[in-house]
Amino acid sequence: MAGILLGVTGGIAAYKSLDVLRILQRHGHDVMVVMTTAAQRFVGTASFAALSGREVGTALFGASEQPGYHHLDVARDRDLMLICPASANTIAKLAAGMADSLLGSCYIAFAGPVLVAPAMNTQMWLHPAQQENLERLRRHGVEIIDPASGLLADGAVGPGRLADPQDIVDAVERRLAAPGGEGPLAGRRVLVTAGGTREPIDAVRYVGNRSSGRMGWAIADAARARGAEVTVVAANVDLPRRPDVRYVEAPTAAAMHRACLAEFPAADLLAMVAAVADYRPVRRAEGKLDKSAADALAVQLERTDDILADLAARRRPGQVLVGFAAEHGPQGLDRARDKRRRKGVDVVVHNDAAVEGAAFEGPDNIITIIGPGDAEEALPRMTKRDCAERILDAAQALVGAAPAGSAP
Ligand code: CTP
Repeated sequence: MAGILLGVTGGIAAYKSLDVLRILQRHGHDVMVVMTTAAQRFVGTASFAALSGREVGTALFGASEQPGYHHLDVARDRDLMLICPASANTIAKLAAGMADSLLGSCYIAFAGPVLVAPAMNTQMWLHPAQQENLERLRRHGVEIIDPASGLLADGAVGPGRLADPQDIVDAVERRLAAPGGEGPLAGRRVLVTAGGTREPIDAVRYVGNRSSGRMGWAIADAARARGAEVTVVAANVDLPRRPDVRYVEAPTAAAMHRACLAEFPAADLLAMVAAVADYRPVRRAEGKLDKSAADALAVQLERTDDILADLAARRRPGQVLVGFAAEHGPQGLDRARDKRRRKGVDVVVHNDAAVEGAAFEGPDNIITIIGPGDAEEALPRMTKRDCAERILDAAQALVGAAPAGSAP
């Protein structure tokens, strides 16, 4: 997708940039690595060369028999530069525009967007010199990916720990997908439902399910990274919210139905990931039920509306619908295939809730993507984010074939 220049500087977190490199490559980016001399004391060039499939740039001057300007050649044709981890020393040099290393000269020779992910000891991070240097970089248009707080390599607790590799890649892809930027879903609106609805029994109790919202969150992240405008209708999700996604809270099946009816007309793609209750208590008791009133309690349940089927019946030409089928046991795949036809959706994502590592709560999932058409893809266990990428790969082709959604 994009050509990225990854600058690695000296710090214990240098090994984490191997993870960043791997995620970038999984997302289809072409990564070229430049390392400072100090970085090579922490991780060898061989690891970065093997993973990137390219020679790693280390020296300011190329082999003497090579013509041209080495630092300009390295920076040429790259879409974005990411410096990760960025040490206090490198940040100071970049802020001053010093070009005494290949990385430093690439930086001032590079006209595209630059992101810097610092990692250092808390005292160094908080030092006024460091903060002034960061401020200077921001003024120069550099985006700083703030470090996380936590236990640092030196045993101290505080800010300075390199941000999570996936968050760093998200920041890179957000930047690539920024207005005027690229992305296969740029200009498209994606609506995602996530979490699990809770149907009240009384003021404090409910009928609910184990859905955490992670799968829906992963689809929202992946769609944003592909340049889409994303709205998430969330049912009871306790996960971090991102500033560039719009969230609509919908704690019950009825609230989710209302929110989806309002949001769906403007969407080009709907991913109905939420675990919507199929039944809800007929009556919600006033206040809190008192257990001294009876030895047994029967709660009568009634069916909720099938939101996905309702939206599918209202779809306008060009809208793409993805449903989920959390099934249990060996007949599940057939039921999921049938669900796709019955609900009138383009793609159904099947997972078997009986299998360890699939479906609820955890970071991973094991899915089969059914559709579009006769296509069917059974995937091995992978992170929910990777599942999200594969689901969007399947649905995106259909979105590409349709005219862009009309603004509400
Ligand atoms: N769904 C929905 N509204 C409901 C129930 C489910 O929109 N009231 C959506 C889910 O978000 C999911 C898909 O329908 O995308 C499949 O949900 P699931 O509960 O597995 O299927 P059901 O329709 O309940 O089918 P069945 O119970 O017959 O297996």
